[in-house]
Amino acid sequence: MFEHLPALAPDPILGLSTAFKKDTNPAKIDLGVGVYKDEQGNTPILNAVVEAQKHLMETETSKVYITPQGVQGYIDGMLELILGKANPVLLANRVAAVQAPGGCGALRILAELLKRCNADTKVWVSDPTWANHIPLIGSAGLELATYPYFDKETASIKFDEMMTCLSQVKKGDVVLLHGCCHNPTGADLTKEQWQAVAKLANEVGFLPFIDVAYQGFGDGLDEDAYGIRLMAESVPEMIIAASCSKNFGLYRERVGLAALITQNSANRDIVQSQIQYVARGIYSMPPSYGGALVDIILANENLNTMWQNEVTEMRERMIQLRKLLVDNLKLQGASKDFGFINQQKGMFSYLCIAPEQVMKLRDESSVYFVDSSRVNIAGINTKNVEVLAAAIAGVL
Ligand code: LMR
Repeated sequence: MFEHLPALAPDPILGLSTAFKKDTNPAKIDLGVGVYKDEQGNTPILNAVVEAQKHLMETETSKVYITPQGVQGYIDGMLELILGKANPVLLANRVAAVQAPGGCGALRILAELLKRCNADTKVWVSDPTWANHIPLIGSAGLELATYPYFDKETASIKFDEMMTCLSQVKKGDVVLLHGCCHNPTGADLTKEQWQAVAKLANEVGFLPFIDVAYQGFGDGLDEDAYGIRLMAESVPEMIIAASCSKNFGLYRERVGLAALITQNSANRDIVQSQIQYVARGIYSMPPSYGGALVDIILANENLNTMWQNEVTEMRERMIQLRKLLVDNLKLQGASKDFGFINQQKGMFSYLCIAPEQVMKLRDESSVYFVDSSRVNIAGINTKNVEVLAAAIAGVL
């Protein structure tokens, strides 16, 4: 059965961690996998999560199965966090949702549901997009296509080309958009651009599919939801995949949300039954633990404030690190203007250098990041930034 299988190359993102661990250079720098790190290079458990864990330990009385949709308090809390408390789609009971095993689990079950709706559905993703979007959506059997998004030459969004492409997609096609903090480029749509895309979605009749994995890491929790909320109020139907890996630091607990906005409340109930059926056919029900923690944090005023402060701290630190990197690159006499890094949002930026230069940095300076030139800004700190900037300037 297995003998004909070829070995596969390591995952383009997760494989970097393995390579980094093996590297014996004490000065090695890890800007690979999108994980927040503090000044010491650690990823501690958020204080709000520690408190929620204590509370759960004291109050959880059973490990019996949870309901197929997951922890209902988690789902309600997350929908309010993403869509805003008084969003008309929530008030009109137009949102079907399940807790999912991570943002990945959410993307996959949504893709499976799209396949059930229409096996010929085509999903348009930005060029570039997060590497794992391709297998997650493609393996469900959906056709994928790309729309122009980011110009490496100018380090900016090719908005006109993107709009031209999206104006030609078919009614019923699906367009995957990043809610905020675009992964891998850090280049986000402006408010005006979101408005134009929402208008186009209605004109063309494509279904917006918004992936929001970094809410709070760009400009703020509400600010980062601008595009998603605008879209929710503008179009009759849309889908959302969300993740709590980054903003709650719950990476390994696999906490995500799959949500579908339907035309009306009656259709919502049908869609809810369908998405639960899809989940049951893959993993039955989500793991409870992480969702239970998020539920506790969002529902408790003190913990919620504590968590929001921690999100602010992470966001502000990443903004400072962007500036630190740009300033150090200048100081090292880099022959390229990296000022664009300060305009970008969230955890990632493209350095917009060639794959050979990325390899050279890895081989000669033990600096690890994705071949596309995506760097995890949170992997920078005051101790490594000078060496990092010198190494980058050295390969230009
Ligand atoms: C990333 O983009 O680095 C993270 O979302 C981790 C992953 O699963 O790829």
